[in-house]
Amino acid sequence: MAIAKHIRDAMESSSWIRRMFEAGIELKQERGASNVFDLSLGNPIAEPPQEFRDELRKWAENPKRGMHRYMPNAGFYETREAIAKGLLNETNISYQPSHILMTVGAGGALNCALHALCDPGDQVIIFRPFFAEYQFYANNHSAEAVPVDCDSQFLPDMDDLASKINSRTKAVIINSPNNPSGVIYNEDTIASIADLISHCSSRLNIEPYIISDEPYRKILFDSLSYAFPQKAYSRTISVTSHSKDLALAGERIGYAAVHPDDPDASLLMDALVFSNRVLGFVNAPALMQTLVARLQNVTVDIADYELKRNILYKGLSDIGFELVKPQGAFYAFPKAPIQDELSFINSLYDNGVLVVPGRGFGLSGHFRISYCVENSVIEQALPIFEKVYKEFTLT
Ligand SMILES: Cc1ncc(COP(=O)(O)O)c(C=O)c1O
Repeated sequence: MAIAKHIRDAMESSSWIRRMFEAGIELKQERGASNVFDLSLGNPIAEPPQEFRDELRKWAENPKRGMHRYMPNAGFYETREAIAKGLLNETNISYQPSHILMTVGAGGALNCALHALCDPGDQVIIFRPFFAEYQFYANNHSAEAVPVDCDSQFLPDMDDLASKINSRTKAVIINSPNNPSGVIYNEDTIASIADLISHCSSRLNIEPYIISDEPYRKILFDSLSYAFPQKAYSRTISVTSHSKDLALAGERIGYAAVHPDDPDASLLMDALVFSNRVLGFVNAPALMQTLVARLQNVTVDIADYELKRNILYKGLSDIGFELVKPQGAFYAFPKAPIQDELSFINSLYDNGVLVVPGRGFGLSGHFRISYCVENSVIEQALPIFEKVYKEFTLT
């Protein structure tokens, strides 16, 4: 067998989301798509905003010479300038184009950051439940992802964080709003994480980065605002994309932003640009860079996601599910009525509802619902949740 053993092992243990996706295709073929309620994938049904189409048309009709060629690996200057200005407005931190790397989505940005930071055997801290790809991304760069527990509200357990930071810690990944829980970290939580990392850094003589993975930064509910980790910690690399806020997941456009006050900002940017090149991304898609430069203040309809959250949260709470109210993104992470969430979600599957088991995110006993679907799908799934919940709780 020519395939590398570590890849075979990783494929074996990997992605519950993919497994559910494939199982979903089978179920839809068997029962018809309208009888299957797929809440497994974070692939929004929202279409990009009109402003995106206007930009697309404008550039198709009036192309600029060279706009589809190679460019500096960091990306087009004008796009980086627009992003730096946007970040300056939002954070009051003096971002310049020289602090921005255009990337192939947040996934590309995360891989560039980990490639730039990690030597073999280094550790990257992640908070459980976590976006499953973090483990594989760390392994891509011969590093190890180390999970830290959260409390019942899915906020980091500071004692566990303190116990996991050691001389091999290179980065702590924060993901707010969170996939899979929908929880956001407020300023106090961010400040506690930052203080703890700073404290451990001086004691251990290390300089770990916060990698703030923020593709859902603009999808916030209940008039909450986003707490920027870079305001509390200067060794912060923000990584994000327009996959979710502009519904452009398939177009693969995102960026990494290095904090201007990081004493190593210039060297880190060089390392990120180099990583973007040698990982084979070369540069982020040129057309998308041109388009998003003018769309930094535009988003999909966030109120629509909030409405979906409300329908789902009320429906599940009324049934009796224990769940933390999601404050952003488009996921919920309820407790299954039994610790072995697999038998619960298998039963949901038999009744036509697809969700992802919590163990896919490092936390059994829960399951993830992705509600970036039509309202009618949520509404039709709720009575099935109720039926299966009762089967498990009334016996
Ligand atoms: C937490 C988190 N980080 C990163 C990504 C990757 O996003 P992108 O499409 O920008 O690569 C996702 C995608 O679902 C995500 O949920």
